[in-house]
Amino acid sequence: MDRVDGKTAFITGGARGIGLGIARAFARAGAKLALADIDQASLATAKSELSDLTPVETFLLDVRDRSAYARVADETESRLGSVSILCNNAGVAGDQHVTRLTYEYWDWVIGINLTGVINGVQTFLPRMLKRGGGGHIVNTASGAGLAATSSGLLYTTSKFAVVGLSESLRLALEPFKIGVSVLCPGPVNTKIISNSNDTRPSSSVTVEETKMWEAAITQANAFLAAGADPNEVGEMVLAAVKTDRLYIHTDRIMAGLIEARAKALLDAMPPAK
Ligand code: NAI
Repeated sequence: MDRVDGKTAFITGGARGIGLGIARAFARAGAKLALADIDQASLATAKSELSDLTPVETFLLDVRDRSAYARVADETESRLGSVSILCNNAGVAGDQHVTRLTYEYWDWVIGINLTGVINGVQTFLPRMLKRGGGGHIVNTASGAGLAATSSGLLYTTSKFAVVGLSESLRLALEPFKIGVSVLCPGPVNTKIISNSNDTRPSSSVTVEETKMWEAAITQANAFLAAGADPNEVGEMVLAAVKTDRLYIHTDRIMAGLIEARAKALLDAMPPAK
């Protein structure tokens, strides 16, 4: 039986960027779509584009809001049928210099990038299990979740956790025939840096920090602009769901760092007895 055609996919952060790329790939493969995002205008644009291909419902949802998440899940399933593909993709790429960290910053990044994923799992997994299993969960982490990079402390922390959650969830869900994949992209050509800037905590930001942030945005945007096309990433996710693969890489940019990390871990172990 086809794992995508005729199924309902719920995609967070589905209005723009990688989430929209995933939505396009799934729509072409015959899935019905529920897109959740905090950006209403982009949701409307995505809906008008994709409705030509497949039934699409859109929801204004902050993935941190658990009760709203449950309501949206009910509405999705009553309009489109049971969700059997869940893509926990919404995320922000923002950080703060290590000397200026605040709880507000930790809560912002961890709340969306990690707790948002947990909320998606906790909303839809019991429903999948109650129906007797089957389905697939895709969590969007990052290459930054596989080895520490200059991507920043908050981002790296959140993405390592999403990788660990996904690996463990895959083992736990094997008996229930629910697949789990973790998307670990290298640079992808999206506006994540400026989009994230729109929602970052502003209360403790100085004029100097704003200037630094603007400079960082320009630099990071240029780096991402040379990255993968989000539509191609969507096709990679579709292929991984169809074949039930755990890791989804978009390039080999992290290969050296992953190798060095694995070697450092192994070298730190006591000698074999
Ligand atoms: P994007 O900014 O184009 O898309 C993210 C979407 O998530 C946006 O539409 C945004 O409105 C939505 N969003 C943000 N906070 C939300 C919240 N609290 N609740 C619901 N929706 C929310 O960014 P992009 O690049 O498509 O990012 C998608 C995922 O891919 C993120 O998890 C990001 O960390 C990850 N990623 C992106 C990379 C890149 O180079 N663009 C590289 C590695 C990982």
